[in-house]
Amino acid sequence: MSDIGRRGFLVRTGLALSAATLAEACSRTLASQQAPQNTFTNWENLRAQFPLSPRLIHLAAFFLASHPTPVREAIERHRAGLDADPIGYWFEHEEKQEAKVLQAAADYLGAGPTDIALTDSTTMGLGLLYGGLHLRSGEEILTTTHDHYSTETSLRLRAERTGTVVKQISLYRSLKTVSRDEMVDSLQKAITPATRIVAVTWVHSSTGLKLPIHEMALAIEASNRSRDEQDRVIFCVDGLHGLGVEDFSVSELGCDFLVAGTHKWMFGPRGTGLVWGHPKAWPITQAIIPTFNAQAYDLWMENKSSKDLPQSVHMTPGGFHSFEHRWALDEAFQFHQAIGKSKVTQRIYELNQQLKQGLAAMRHVTLHTPVSQDLSAGIVCFDVAGMPPRQVVEKLRERGIVGSVTPYATKYVRLAPSLINSPKEIETTLEGIRNLCAS
Ligand SMILES: Cc1ncc(COP(=O)(O)O)c(C=O)c1O
Repeated sequence: MSDIGRRGFLVRTGLALSAATLAEACSRTLASQQAPQNTFTNWENLRAQFPLSPRLIHLAAFFLASHPTPVREAIERHRAGLDADPIGYWFEHEEKQEAKVLQAAADYLGAGPTDIALTDSTTMGLGLLYGGLHLRSGEEILTTTHDHYSTETSLRLRAERTGTVVKQISLYRSLKTVSRDEMVDSLQKAITPATRIVAVTWVHSSTGLKLPIHEMALAIEASNRSRDEQDRVIFCVDGLHGLGVEDFSVSELGCDFLVAGTHKWMFGPRGTGLVWGHPKAWPITQAIIPTFNAQAYDLWMENKSSKDLPQSVHMTPGGFHSFEHRWALDEAFQFHQAIGKSKVTQRIYELNQQLKQGLAAMRHVTLHTPVSQDLSAGIVCFDVAGMPPRQVVEKLRERGIVGSVTPYATKYVRLAPSLINSPKEIETTLEGIRNLCAS
């Protein structure tokens, strides 16, 4: 932080914004967001906005986003400003740009901007949330055997540091027979009077299985009816592979926390993410990294407490960031809004159905992801008889088809049709997999 301090600089440069001016700036931002600049015309034009190599069929785009035109242009704009006058540009943009990003995220999620903390990744959000939960002695965390490294490791680190008991359950017996009811039932049976936190992953990147989050939330709500507010089971979800795929608002979903990176399916700048928390749930968290929120910092300089600021503010870690990326995140939400959430979901489902139906019909392929879109989203996992997953991925890459291997103890081939793909590309991919048995 500069030694002249935030307020001093603001006053001297005439950049100080009164609360009223700030509110006006926010409402202008809102108005401009209601009429997105980028309008969706068709899928070919959408694909043309990504500088992805046209020689490849990208079926691992969810791994790390390629930046579409409006995101790329915003990053370049902020980078040029920061390079020309780092401190001046920062003071001029920090508050208003962060407000814009929060408002865009809130509009997209159907939430309030003060319910959202900004992070650099899903992993950062999970680490902050699970590491910083206020739990009383005897209160336990219930999680599953299906979660990603980042959830499992955040919980393990917490358990090692604080002694919190973390219980892991399997939500289903077999992917072949899994049902939404089975998963809800498994969760319900595992909740005990000691359970205070439930930690799950919406869409498993190990198998492509999607959990019935809404039904699970209802089951948790039912078990909460006999508990006081301070004993309520809090439902936390790694929502990474649902955000930017599923058509939802957080109130419909029903969980207490949704943690996600915005640099995968959302096409946000690399190194961005968020934690959304229900206003009633935020008090269970405690920040670990000091926020650099302007109000919190100003209060600190005046020797005043910032405890009345929203907890999401404290949970937005400070230190300086790659601001050119963070401040371009609103463009990614607007990019999705311009297409329309339901159209996004429909397109991803159609391409995934095409891939799954094609794979299911191949005798040398074992499809692991359920075909039903009730139990899957945008990730398809499978095996090819007699060929290790790594080899399948390498052979497909030789044919210009980019996939990945699931980074878990059990490894599968993983393809993820997304908005940048076309039905023709999926057909070419199926042809490539069909020919694998012959090669
Ligand atoms: C389910 C899941 N959660 C978390 C992560 C980590 O995401 P991030 O890179 O945003 O930390 C991944 C994959 O990268 C994932 O598949």
